[in-house]
Amino acid sequence: MPGTPLAPRRPWQGRRIVLGVTGGIAAYKSIQLARDLTRLGAEVDVVLTRSAQQFVAPLSFEGVTGRRTLTDLFSVEGAALHVRLGREADAVCVAPATADFIARAAQGRADDLICTTLLATRAPVILCPAMNDRMFAHPQVQHNLSHIRDHLGYGIAGPAEGPLAVGEGDGPGRMLEPHQITEAVGRALATDAAFRGRRVLVTAGPTHEPIDPVRYVGNRSSGRMGYAIAQAAWRRGAQVTLVSGPSSLEHPFGVDVVSVETAAAMHEAVASAIGGADVSVFAAAVADFRPDSVHAQKMKRSEGGTSPTLSLTANPDIALVTRDLRKEGSVCVGFALETRDLLKNAAKKLDQKGFHLLVANDATEDGAGFEVDTNRVTILKAGASPEALPLLSKHEVAEVVLDHVARLLSGE
Ligand code: C5P
Repeated sequence: MPGTPLAPRRPWQGRRIVLGVTGGIAAYKSIQLARDLTRLGAEVDVVLTRSAQQFVAPLSFEGVTGRRTLTDLFSVEGAALHVRLGREADAVCVAPATADFIARAAQGRADDLICTTLLATRAPVILCPAMNDRMFAHPQVQHNLSHIRDHLGYGIAGPAEGPLAVGEGDGPGRMLEPHQITEAVGRALATDAAFRGRRVLVTAGPTHEPIDPVRYVGNRSSGRMGYAIAQAAWRRGAQVTLVSGPSSLEHPFGVDVVSVETAAAMHEAVASAIGGADVSVFAAAVADFRPDSVHAQKMKRSEGGTSPTLSLTANPDIALVTRDLRKEGSVCVGFALETRDLLKNAAKKLDQKGFHLLVANDATEDGAGFEVDTNRVTILKAGASPEALPLLSKHEVAEVVLDHVARLLSGE
């Protein structure tokens, strides 16, 4: 997720990635991509084509990866460099992938180091097209991409819509941003048989219950924990729907996001999706109460100094009231934020709400709870003793929770 510090973590940590860079203006963003992948703990071998070197220098990549940038098919390391690169790679990513490179990859050409490496590897390959929008829309480029996707099995990530190079329009053609490509590579590295093809539903964030057109009752949930779970489930190969209350976080890459404001709207979105979900994760901090009625106009401070009184009604407990709509055999995960009697209250919720797992944390502990990137949680599972985890990043908590879900999905 952009904004969070990059530290070595799954699924990139300790993995070998070949990053091919071909000759498009977006190549400048690939320096950031190489840096991000390296900071996530990957060993990144950058291969530049001759035309990429018109845009970026080998030294720029060496500075961020700490490894030699490769440019020649016939180098001092011997004619079999492509074979070694291809064999040792856990994933190959080409970003940017120009129209010319896409044509050569579609044909299985072997006229430079990156094309030859593609033929020598059996690792997953992700191509990130980047070109002018008219070029991208050209039937020959589209034909090449369909062939690559359908017959070679490579992943095609992007392009996005947005401003292209100076004066070139703004249709689809723009390369994805480095953090999005990082996720696409992460999905190639992380795919987990337990999640492949599964549908996962996640709720996240707070809900805002309107008082009048400008004020609401809410809470300090940022959505970070639920967003991290949605992203990690997508990386493992699932099709993910995230029902999110108001949050300033960027949408997780590849995830379908349903944005809602109120508990009532979240309830409706969950009710319509949960029947198809193999996994549902209730990470939202739903407002327990909403004002009885919403004032049509902004409430004024009274001249006489009397304070208004808010009358509140309980919101539905979404996890509870959608319990009967869950898909048979699905796995359901809840969260509980407590300020006292953590384990006792959490165990009660596990049972009452029919969760298979409950992730409990103490809101009063440093580094746990709302608005921070870390969490210290205890995982409760029916019939097992609670598992207290150390202080971890929310990304790592998401991975541990999904490891448990994977075991439950596999019938363990
Ligand atoms: O608020 P409480 O601690 O009971 O929440 C426990 C779990 O129930 C959480 O997983 C939360 O997302 C879910 N919940 C819900 N709808 C509510 C309140 C809580 O789905 N109105």
